[in-house]
Amino acid sequence: MNVLIVGGSGGIGLALVKHYLTSNDVNVFATYRTQKPFLNHPNLAWYKVNVTVESDIEELANQLPSLRLLINAVGMLHDGEHNPEKSIKEFNSDFFNKNIAINVTPSLLLATYFSKHLTAKSTSHFITISAKIGSIEDNRLGGWVSYRSSKAALNMAMKTISIEWRFKQANTCVLVFHPGTTDTELSKRFQRNVPEGKLFTPEYVANCLSRIIRDTSSSDTGKFYSYDGSILPW
Ligand SMILES: NC(=O)c1ccc[n+]([C@@H]2O[C@H](COP(=O)([O-])OP(=O)(O)OC[C@H]3O[C@@H](n4cnc5c(N)ncnc54)[C@H](OP(=O)(O)O)[C@@H]3O)[C@@H](O)[C@H]2O)c1
Repeated sequence: MNVLIVGGSGGIGLALVKHYLTSNDVNVFATYRTQKPFLNHPNLAWYKVNVTVESDIEELANQLPSLRLLINAVGMLHDGEHNPEKSIKEFNSDFFNKNIAINVTPSLLLATYFSKHLTAKSTSHFITISAKIGSIEDNRLGGWVSYRSSKAALNMAMKTISIEWRFKQANTCVLVFHPGTTDTELSKRFQRNVPEGKLFTPEYVANCLSRIIRDTSSSDTGKFYSYDGSILPW
């Protein structure tokens, strides 16, 4: 079975790469943008890809065989210059556009260039890691408007793809996944108020997602799953 982890150098992405390498019959293709992780394995191939550059995604698609699973684990919450906004007064349109470019557009490009890789006779999965903060219905706190809006847009994009593919490639299960607060670079500076037992390791989250993948098929397409297997409202 062939698996592609986009953003395999991230906290959750690398845990997913390691998780799938524990099976002998899985070939893992994984991408990094900046630093290639120090992880080598006969069943693992690394590719340097900037997912905000369309030609990088097209080139990757041209090099890879058909896939049973594609997970996009790329994401951004803050950069060197900006933190997520506490108030709309902190809104900055460049930061907002960067959130869209990293958190939304890549999944649409991956669907564009990899749809033909996911047309297996049995179930294949196309998954993106989103966040519950992107749920419009669940929004009670406000704040973090750029990240929150980008994840809401990502959720809508994935739902839309799932509806189109229900007819065009009926074996592909399109899912959106919320990992919970996970101990990675992305969340490091926001972990202070996480309740005890609610800060997860990337390994735990990788296990949660792989269980959901194992237990779902094309009839589950278009769902938004939380790490514990429950379904989240859009
Ligand atoms: N951690 C949490 O608590 C949490 C909670 C909810 C949702 N999530 C979501 O989970 C996903 C994974 O996050 P994480 O916690 O694992 O974060 P992370 O450790 O910061 O990893 C982020 C990944 O995104 C990659 N990336 C960023 N910009 C990129 C670009 N332009 N092109 C290619 N790759 C790029 C990074 O690659 P390089 O390192 O090579 O730059 C890295 O692999 C994200 O979508 C995030 O929003 C995380």
